[in-house]
Amino acid sequence: MRIVSGIQPTGNLHLGNYLGAIRNWVAMQNDAAASGGECFFFLADLHAISMPHDPAALSANTREMTAALVACGVDPDKSTLFNQTQVPAHAELQWLLNGTARMGWLSRMTQFKDKAGKNRDSVSVALYTYPVLQAADVLLYQATHVPVGEDQKQHLELARDIAQKFNNDFCPEDKPLFVQPAPIIPPEAARIMSLRDGSNKMSKSDPSDMSRINLTDDADTIMSKVKKAKTDPEPLPSEIEGLEGRPEARNLVGIYAVMAGVSQAQVLADFGGKGFGAFKPALGELLVEKLSPINARFNDLRHDRDALDAILRKGAQKARAAAAPTLAAAYDALGL
Ligand code: ADP
Ligand code: NA
Repeated sequence: MRIVSGIQPTGNLHLGNYLGAIRNWVAMQNDAAASGGECFFFLADLHAISMPHDPAALSANTREMTAALVACGVDPDKSTLFNQTQVPAHAELQWLLNGTARMGWLSRMTQFKDKAGKNRDSVSVALYTYPVLQAADVLLYQATHVPVGEDQKQHLELARDIAQKFNNDFCPEDKPLFVQPAPIIPPEAARIMSLRDGSNKMSKSDPSDMSRINLTDDADTIMSKVKKAKTDPEPLPSEIEGLEGRPEARNLVGIYAVMAGVSQAQVLADFGGKGFGAFKPALGELLVEKLSPINARFNDLRHDRDALDAILRKGAQKARAAAAPTLAAAYDALGL
């Protein structure tokens, strides 16, 4: 089993990024290690240029995201952790696969249609061909499994179609080059909402810093943000149904449950009937307990440019070595 997954580098990482994305990688890494599989995780910095972007922010965010991943438990000795740009085979294979991908296939990608909207003529060509780069990202490593959320299923289908057509068109029947990767649907990711408004998701783009728990927040900040989180005046219900129509309460109970590793029903069994005056300090303390080791490692590492660069350099070396045979075989198959 070989898992390949990428994440776009972003800064200002928060509890939503941790619970909704980063934590899944740590779980996959540990599952893979237990079953003799391996994980390739990369910072998708090449993908980031498909939308308008700030070059200085992109390189800073690539390091910031690397620091967060490592602080949260992605272990560069267990997984191959690297950024795409340092493995030129991604861009090279994309070009080779551009010969196989069909215009009609790409035109059907709903994410392109959503992101381009009415501006089809003014968005970048990269936004259009992005799914071919994604195909290259996984086919390059002969990935057997790729974790995909709902919004990425269509892109993985495209990668499978490209692999199949390339194998059919350019490889002997008994020696296909590319593995067609299977999707892994990650366990339902926690969707964490803003602390100021239970119906918007927690996001780095929210102008209010009080709306989110940042991975850089210290214990006092976490306690005070949780205590000031918006809630209603009712005590917590004893049953899940009682959270109906109470988005702020539901969000805080949900956060408690995932951080403690228990069900929401269990949280309500413990706190039902109690007011937020009792629940919020308990939630704050739980967050501090679980996040402070991450926070300490993150704050050390994010300022240690040499250490981050060394991690990425080592990861890129491993990734380049893993990618080389497939890239060479693809050139060869095409007569290049
Ligand atoms: P933001 O909304 O802060 O801009 P991004 O869009 O950069 O976050 O998301 C990076 C990753 O973190 C994605 O995989 C996304 O699904 C996950 N993520 C972001 N916000 C949340 C959230 N509030 N709850 C769960 N997952 C989230
Ligand atoms: Na976003």
